[in-house]
Amino acid sequence: MRLNSPQMNIITKACMKASRSLIRDFGELENLQVSAKGPGDFVSSADKRTERLIVDELLKAHPEYGIITEETGIHNKSNRENRWIIDPIDGTMNFLNGVPQFAISIGYEEKGEIICGVIFDPIKNEMFYAEKGNGAYLNNSRIRVSNKKKLKDALIVTGGPKSSSKIKEKIFTEFVKVSKKIDIPVRKFGSAALDLAYVASGRFDGCWQRELNYWDIAAGIVILKEAGGFINFFDEDDKVPLKKNILASNSNIHDELRDLILKKNIE
Ligand code: IPD
Ligand code: CA
Ligand code: CA
Repeated sequence: MRLNSPQMNIITKACMKASRSLIRDFGELENLQVSAKGPGDFVSSADKRTERLIVDELLKAHPEYGIITEETGIHNKSNRENRWIIDPIDGTMNFLNGVPQFAISIGYEEKGEIICGVIFDPIKNEMFYAEKGNGAYLNNSRIRVSNKKKLKDALIVTGGPKSSSKIKEKIFTEFVKVSKKIDIPVRKFGSAALDLAYVASGRFDGCWQRELNYWDIAAGIVILKEAGGFINFFDEDDKVPLKKNILASNSNIHDELRDLILKKNIE
């Protein structure tokens, strides 16, 4: 671990503690209780346990900080200056099916800006982390976005739409539009947090996705930026500030990807 601000230490400690039970749960999937939150949207006892362990640890360190979590909502609502943003398992469907592509994601937000964050893949033992102004890392090595020059040659990842989405057709149309423009088939790996971490570390060249939640991407925002990447939030709705549409990539292909997705007349 190369960064050591107090918040960074708190986040990584919480992450490591929670990951021990998460790894155990991944080895005993048949023992988990799973319930449906909606069509195609599930939560397991592992999501809840992991979240509780993280929240307890963070509250121990800062009882006054606000917390936004996927499974239990908002704690200390009145503190909007300092907030932890948590997704205990990003990639729950992968996790529940025994696919080792999921991560714990924790970001720390100060006055509306993500200052540091960790995305930890406990199965591959890969910790992606960053602190504003101090670079981004994977375990002990500095990471950077790729140097790919043209969208046509890029490896791009996306996700969705959710079964409950009201804009499924739009999302499918966008997928076709991007697919036609690039030579390599678009990937869908099922964890938006890891998608961003992989763009930050140059494994993917870019990603875009509509209808994400803030906790899916909070840590990824600072990791991507500190790795030299660009991120856009588009079609924002002030009434649902925690819903996010994102487009992220290295700087070379960013304009091309943004124009392709946002300009209606480009086919
Ligand atoms: C999901 C993952 C997935 C994305 C979904 C998210 P979850 O998070 O990030 O890649 O396509 O939109 O909801 O439910 O596994 O925490
Ligand atoms: Ca998520
Ligand atoms: Ca989750």
